[in-house]
Amino acid sequence: MTPTIETLRDAKHGYDLGGLLFGNIDGETHQADRPWSPNERTHCVYEEDRLIAMSRSIDMAQYFGGRSVPMGGLSGVGVAPDRRGRGLGRTVVSASLLAMHERGDVISSQFPTTASMYRSLGYEYAGDYGSTRVPLAELPRGSELDATANSIEFSACSWGDVNHEAATLWDSMARPHNGWQDHRPLLWQQTAYDWDHHEGGKYLVRGVRDGKTVAIVAYQQEAPVSDGLFSLWLEQLLVADGGALRAAFAYLAGHGTTVDAIKTTLPVDYFGWALRGGEHLAHHKTFRAMTRLIDVSGAIEARGYPGGLTVAVPLAIVDPLIDSNNGNYIFEVTAGQGALTPGGDGGIALGIGALSAIYTGVGQPAVMAQAGQLSGGTEVQHGDLAAAFAGPAPVFTAYF
Ligand SMILES: CC(C)(COP(=O)(O)OP(=O)(O)OC[C@H]1O[C@@H](n2cnc3c(N)ncnc32)[C@H](O)[C@@H]1OP(=O)(O)O)[C@@H](O)C(=O)NCCC(=O)NCCS
Repeated sequence: MTPTIETLRDAKHGYDLGGLLFGNIDGETHQADRPWSPNERTHCVYEEDRLIAMSRSIDMAQYFGGRSVPMGGLSGVGVAPDRRGRGLGRTVVSASLLAMHERGDVISSQFPTTASMYRSLGYEYAGDYGSTRVPLAELPRGSELDATANSIEFSACSWGDVNHEAATLWDSMARPHNGWQDHRPLLWQQTAYDWDHHEGGKYLVRGVRDGKTVAIVAYQQEAPVSDGLFSLWLEQLLVADGGALRAAFAYLAGHGTTVDAIKTTLPVDYFGWALRGGEHLAHHKTFRAMTRLIDVSGAIEARGYPGGLTVAVPLAIVDPLIDSNNGNYIFEVTAGQGALTPGGDGGIALGIGALSAIYTGVGQPAVMAQAGQLSGGTEVQHGDLAAAFAGPAPVFTAYF
């Protein structure tokens, strides 16, 4: 019998099943006042009043080619242990994908615990999520700052004080980086809530230059390791420019006698370019994230492309789940804008997963052709596709 899909009846059901699936290791109870994705965004299977399968898609966006692309962040996917192996996992994720399509999300991303399930539904590898360790000795000290960085004054604040500035700073900082999330209001509300409810040492400061907030630094002390030194978990680092970044580094370097390193989800190269050395930076990868195009035309239009590039490549796209994506198209880029127009002879034939990998810049068409992930097309067309989607390797900076 085909299971009936419905949306979440009560946020507590989702929290309880989530605790069973992912381990409620900190023993938290359901926090009714925590800002939460609306229940309509979680697709479920119930047996009478028991929730046995769920899949949530959070209203988010990601930057690609310097533009913010509407993204459904797939999260909290799971099936009760005694109901696994019967197709319920695929069923609820498929329901989320169709709902995202209806809602206007043009891509979806997630952190897989089983890539095979998501690959069978059209997701492909799309960048890493992990943590970077930066020894404090690598950061510039206050005495090394130039006048612009030195004119920034830091003082304690609360998230309520800097909510608006935080979103603006993050937008300008994240925009050039493929894959970095564009936080919608819910994510900022959750950041503030979780911060306020975090027990233990936590410090939130803002740096002001000429009356304007140009840096926000939020960090927590982590327990000393064997040598007695603390490490700092850098929860947020939001800066307006290079001077503000150096000033924020120097602020953190001020902890150098008691702290050995900071840890952050920002990638190695973000720090690497801004440091004198950087040879001791280390990255620990937690997840290879995956992305799927939900609406191929909408996704192609939404992201940015190199401004001086003009290409026209015929594609034949196959999507077993979202019917409106299927067909022959001409993919065109002119003056930094992309479009997918129905028609053409279907030169390069590819599935939705292969197209998703190419879209994020992770999949190189010529290499994917060698691996049998796409067929047809000329070398020039493979090169044109690669050039259109070229850019910094995508990185995920926040877990959801
Ligand atoms: C992953 C999970 C949702 C699958 O649920 P399910 O109802 O058993 O899934 P389905 O029966 O629809 O199987 C779909 C696919 O999942 C994958 N899968 C299921 N169990 C798996 C396991 N133990 N190890 C690896 N892959 C697995 C397989 O690709 C499977 O396809 P196949 O049967 O054709 O090989 C379920 O095991 C679960 O809730 N796990 C704990 C929470 C979790 O890991 N959630 C995913 C977060 S990204």
